[in-house]
Amino acid sequence: MSNKIQTLSGYIHEYQKSVLQPEEFWGRIAESFHWKKHWDSVMEWDFEKPDVKWFVNGKVNITENILDRHLFTIGDRKAIIWEANEPGEATVELTYRELYEKVCQFSNAMKANGVGKGDRVIIYMPMVPEAAIAMLACARIGAIHSVVFAGFSATSLADRINDCQAKMVLTSDGNFRGSKAIPVKAVVDDALKSCTTVEKVIVLKRTGTDVSMKSGLDMWWHDAIEGQALSCPAEVMDSEDVLYILYTSGSTGKPKGVVHTVGGYMVYTYYTFLNVFQYTAGDVFWCTADVGWVTGHSYIVYGPLLAGATTLMFEGVPTYPKPNRFWQIIDKYKVNQFYTAPTAIRALQAYGLDIIEPFDLSSLKVIGSVGEPINEEAWHWYHSHIGKGNCPLVDTWWQTETGGIMISAIAGITPTKPAFASLPLPGIQPIIVDAEGKELKGNNVEGNLCIKFPWPSMLRTTWGDHERCRQTYFSTYKGMYFTGDGAKRDHDGYIRILGRVDDVINVSGHRMGTAEIENAINEHPKVIESAVVGYPHDVKGQGIYAYVICDMEGRTEANLKDEIRLTVANIIGPIAKPDKIQIVPGLPKTRSGKIMRRILRKVASNDLGNMGDTSTLLDPDVVQAIIETADTAS
Ligand code: WT7
Repeated sequence: MSNKIQTLSGYIHEYQKSVLQPEEFWGRIAESFHWKKHWDSVMEWDFEKPDVKWFVNGKVNITENILDRHLFTIGDRKAIIWEANEPGEATVELTYRELYEKVCQFSNAMKANGVGKGDRVIIYMPMVPEAAIAMLACARIGAIHSVVFAGFSATSLADRINDCQAKMVLTSDGNFRGSKAIPVKAVVDDALKSCTTVEKVIVLKRTGTDVSMKSGLDMWWHDAIEGQALSCPAEVMDSEDVLYILYTSGSTGKPKGVVHTVGGYMVYTYYTFLNVFQYTAGDVFWCTADVGWVTGHSYIVYGPLLAGATTLMFEGVPTYPKPNRFWQIIDKYKVNQFYTAPTAIRALQAYGLDIIEPFDLSSLKVIGSVGEPINEEAWHWYHSHIGKGNCPLVDTWWQTETGGIMISAIAGITPTKPAFASLPLPGIQPIIVDAEGKELKGNNVEGNLCIKFPWPSMLRTTWGDHERCRQTYFSTYKGMYFTGDGAKRDHDGYIRILGRVDDVINVSGHRMGTAEIENAINEHPKVIESAVVGYPHDVKGQGIYAYVICDMEGRTEANLKDEIRLTVANIIGPIAKPDKIQIVPGLPKTRSGKIMRRILRKVASNDLGNMGDTSTLLDPDVVQAIIETADTAS
């Protein structure tokens, strides 16, 4: 495994090489894969347009590198281990050979139902092996998958189906999560009332819930695969053909479809998986994310399987049937690398140490964190009580748009520091800029985080709207990719991520646009206007605080708040429900009508000391009225 960094000096050497000779550096790593045709040049780029290409004119299929390449070397190794929601249900294990067969079989089923190269396929499924099989089958035949987290509402699902004009939807009858069975197929039925492009829906039987099956449209998964061959040719894909679209929220408008392409994503997810977690053949790797988020794409499915790893998939939630579920699973499968979110750590920390104690966690070699800044307290708890003080804790900073981990320690090789993502991985050139875009060089600086040079798995566009991609990421600072995060570099040169500097909030590691939540709240007939901000939340990182102006006639405050929460759950999904709603007489606005969110954020954070200059407000008295009825409960 020559692509694996072994020492600190090795990291320094690789990093320097990646900056001085990026083409040689990435070209060498890409040589580890099977290409149907070699690339002509490693990269071409222009951050103005933006136009970025990696492994130009190379032809490749990512599933040949996950499946065919491993058949004769590690065909009998476990590729996927699956643990069900109920502890009593049997484990499913798929070897690389079995995964190959299942992916090919489902590829043939999709082809038989009219899906081909370039068609879009929505995957709205529970955390079951078939979700990974579905993704890989799309990649095998060149269809573009877009996984939608199964907690999103029918309206959100319909928006995504319509935005990418999907031809097929893959789903299940229901979804087991904790003590609930969620009727997923019913949500799809509901969504399809406002969609015209979907020709087939393939439904996996999981919960046994009654579903309606429309003839000509709906088809059971087990019927679709019946009689299909266990081999299927891998479509020839250009390195820059689209692998998938993943929708994510921004500060304005509806979620946008981040587009990732085949070649660069393949090389980068493999390389970062191998190095950050220092994966060794035979290890069991567990990432607790859902496949509906980018973490699930890159570090449950693509990265681990490209590296020939054994990846564990868990259907349930950390607290069911008891809040010891994570620790029990680590013990059961002797997990070696464990990758989770700070919000889960903080939630489980609250249950005390006694629930961990019965389990043997000594198999763990590396523990990881992703999704939001990890506070020092949670860092130390995770490091001491889960890692038992001897597992490197990698705090991995990245985004849906970056496709893979960007800033992180390399486990056991580069040093860590609590609450610091630390150092850039080879190939990544982060810079911190001031408001004017001037690079802040040296240490002890704080500003906005940008990346000044392309990396293989960066987003290429936003689906159907390239201008939106340019505006969102490449126009704030000329010639650079802007992350939307603030960051500081400390006296040792380590990077600490300070959180979003735009109108995006991060709730339990899930990204939400305040505008999107406001739009949903405003759909309630009694709502006149609303403003949403984030506030510090002990477990979720950030909570959602909504200020709402309402027509109260015929309603009590309590039932109006319940209705507003329900409206948001119906339009976006339960994850976007406001934690706090304050009914207000007005909002602090400037004379030009702009809401002064700075003031609302301070009130929501119970930071009432200094409201700053409020003289430019249209109605300064409104601030006092808001403060008086603020919801300050923690
Ligand atoms: C935003 C991206 C990356 C997969 C999960 C979230 C925040 C992510 C960290 C970290 C501090 C982090 C950033 C980023 N974030 N990881 N280790 N430390 N903040 O993906 O939904 O695209 O959100 O999550 O604010 O911009 P996402």
